[in-house]
Amino acid sequence: MADPTSTTSSTVHMDTARALFARLSPIRYRSKIHYPGLIWQVLRNKRRDTAVLKREIGGLIAEHGKSLSPEILETYLESMILLHYLQKSGVTVYSMMKPELMESLAEECIRVLSSGVQGELVDVGVWKGGSSMVMKTVNDLLGSGRTLKMLDIYDTMDFKVLDDSDPIEDRIIITALEHARQYFGTEGVATSIAEIRTNFETLSVSLEDVVFLKGNLISEDFPFDQVGDIALLRIDCDFYTATKNTLEKLYPRMQPGGTIIFDDYYLEGFGERLAADELRAAVGDDSPLIRAGQSAVWRLPAG
Ligand SMILES: C[S@@+](CC[C@H](N)C(=O)[O-])C[C@H]1O[C@@H](n2cnc3c(N)ncnc32)[C@H](O)[C@@H]1O
Repeated sequence: MADPTSTTSSTVHMDTARALFARLSPIRYRSKIHYPGLIWQVLRNKRRDTAVLKREIGGLIAEHGKSLSPEILETYLESMILLHYLQKSGVTVYSMMKPELMESLAEECIRVLSSGVQGELVDVGVWKGGSSMVMKTVNDLLGSGRTLKMLDIYDTMDFKVLDDSDPIEDRIIITALEHARQYFGTEGVATSIAEIRTNFETLSVSLEDVVFLKGNLISEDFPFDQVGDIALLRIDCDFYTATKNTLEKLYPRMQPGGTIIFDDYYLEGFGERLAADELRAAVGDDSPLIRAGQSAVWRLPAG
């Protein structure tokens, strides 16, 4: 077997992983001209869809005396509109991650596992399983034999994932998702364990040593106690309370030299960053975060 710590071996693993990335989100990896019907529908209805959603969501934002920069609002609306037309056109997308995020996640998994950091791989906020499949694939390529724990509510993302401590920005995002779901009449961001299992099988990613932990991350009943020592923790549950609760429960399980990735740290309007900053301040760590697109990579000291 190849030495997993060598640069050549890491390059080979990245190349293999890239073949998976292209299947996780084909529309981001291929030219849009491969999807003429889909793109035509998006363009034809874009002005109308954007105007309807902007009126409702913009109204809500103004009502609370808040603002989102127009570019950020446009970006959110574009993603919601695209998701709808993807679902309608039968183009399967398994991940919300952009290519640079898949790359950096795979590279960080290779770094952590190759340097012998002990513990499990933990993915919090799973949706259709995309990020989890990246982590599992790297684990299997390296022959690391780590368990992958996947934590999610495995349902739809509505107001039940928030509580009173969540900032108004998080409420606005949930309301926007609700409006989009009603307006388009699609499943939106719903998911289920059965669907994710099928997705793993479809993309030939092994389900061995994969554990699904289901529940509401803001609840005291969430089975955090079923997570062991952690080598790499990826957090992508978007909102303040869910991220805060996850960090409070799982940060103590982080192993020296391990990594925490905050998927939406640099995305304006999500409460995730506040929770991450509060935890880092509480533990007195002001080490620089590594930026990868909208996400932040926090490498913990080797101890
Ligand atoms: C942005 S998606 C995750 C995207 C995924 N990592 C990928 O590769 O595409 C956010 C996920 O967080 C989950 N989530 C958000 N708040 C939650 C909560 N309070 N409890 C459990 N799951 C939650 C949602 O169900 C959703 O699947």
